[in-house]
Amino acid sequence: MNTLIRNGTVITAHDTRAADVLIEGERIKEVRAGIPVSAAAKVIDAAGMYVIPGGIDAHTHLDMPFGGTTSADDFETGTRAAAFGGTTSIVDFAIQARGTRMRDALDTWWKKGEGRATIDYGLHMIVTDLGASGLEDMDDMVEEGVASFKLFMAYPNVLMVDDATIFKALSQTAKNGALICMHAENGSVIDVIIARALAEGKTAPVYHALTRPPRAEAEAVHRAIAMAEIAGVPVYIVHLSSEEALHEVREARDRGVPAFAETCPQYLLLSIEDLERPNFEGAKYVFTPPLRPKHHQPILWDGLKDDHLQVVSTDHCPFCFADQKILGKDDFTKIPNGGPGIENRLQLIHHYGVNSGKLTLNRFVELTSTTPARIFGMYPKKGEIAAGSDADLVIWDPEAAYTISARTHHMRVDYSMFEGFQVRGNARMVLSRGEVIVDGDKFLGKPGRGNYLKRAARGGAWK
Ligand code: URP
Ligand code: ZN
Ligand code: ZN
Repeated sequence: MNTLIRNGTVITAHDTRAADVLIEGERIKEVRAGIPVSAAAKVIDAAGMYVIPGGIDAHTHLDMPFGGTTSADDFETGTRAAAFGGTTSIVDFAIQARGTRMRDALDTWWKKGEGRATIDYGLHMIVTDLGASGLEDMDDMVEEGVASFKLFMAYPNVLMVDDATIFKALSQTAKNGALICMHAENGSVIDVIIARALAEGKTAPVYHALTRPPRAEAEAVHRAIAMAEIAGVPVYIVHLSSEEALHEVREARDRGVPAFAETCPQYLLLSIEDLERPNFEGAKYVFTPPLRPKHHQPILWDGLKDDHLQVVSTDHCPFCFADQKILGKDDFTKIPNGGPGIENRLQLIHHYGVNSGKLTLNRFVELTSTTPARIFGMYPKKGEIAAGSDADLVIWDPEAAYTISARTHHMRVDYSMFEGFQVRGNARMVLSRGEVIVDGDKFLGKPGRGNYLKRAARGGAWK
């Protein structure tokens, strides 16, 4: 069945124009002004609305084991919440358990998504151990569309890998075209600072931030980029949080080094003061890297505007306050690290970025959809409004007033990091591969309808 979206303003990363969008089956057939209504059986009137490519959240953790518990959203609840906020694709993380093959992790994460995901999803692989077969495993993963790997420079004895492992993995991507994503914090130094803090009886949530200084992030960013340069490959820094870390990325990019980085709404809009909230509420804001003093925020916004930062993702990793965050009541190191945000990314970046004049509408689309599609091997299937692209589209109401709250959000978590934030601009209707999955406050998508995205490595074509 053909669907026609009429009278809207089509906004892509490179263009703003009055145009209609004709959808045939799962794909866009034509984009131009004046497509006749007779071309389609179903007509959606988008007068006064923007038509934007579905959001792509390249950093989520659904159904993820961490710190003795599991993130509160699974692939059904998390992708449904994502869709309500205008996100139609995610890239989540499978985790290789030490001493096991990456394929085992991939199978485990495919099972988590299968029958549950309501939007399309890709997977990165978290590498914890290269062992004897790790480099071969990486090539195998690339064949399966896992075109990116995350390595941790933090969390010693849990997820952290040493520089030799990082360098070997980076070097392998020169051959297989994958992209290494780095969690850049100097975990060894941080662990010493944490031990000192605990010995001094400093156990409250705010010490999570005070024991992870920005310089520990910047040092790791610097080292990651240096190792990528030696290996002669690009590198992508995940969840960049501080001015110091951004400086390292900017300095490298100014020299022509292919270093890329994302930040997240929490680093743009929240601060270390949130970790000081009374009654242990600061635990709601415990994630890594931690929140920084407020003066970092405008610098990150400038980084987005000036393309020193290329992507906004969420690092959605929700843990309920009542029965999960509470695990760290007497010791901040036992608070499960992560926060919820998959539903609010477009609302927040549109309101605090576009409405406040910091970002153009085109840059908003670029940061939240088109560049993640390009960097992570999904473009132009995703992240574009053009003939042949998937009909992942959001009818965005730029005037819709919305107050973010745990009382009304769709994430399966008992608090919102952005409780009470009032935004203007929200998704009114969301289409995924031509199917209307959100219509106002109604969810119409079926669990399991989301496809696994077999992503292309650098230089590769869509499979
Ligand atoms: O605290 C966080 N960010 N939790 C999720 C895991 C990670 O490091 O991205
Ligand atoms: Zn991380
Ligand atoms: Zn993460």
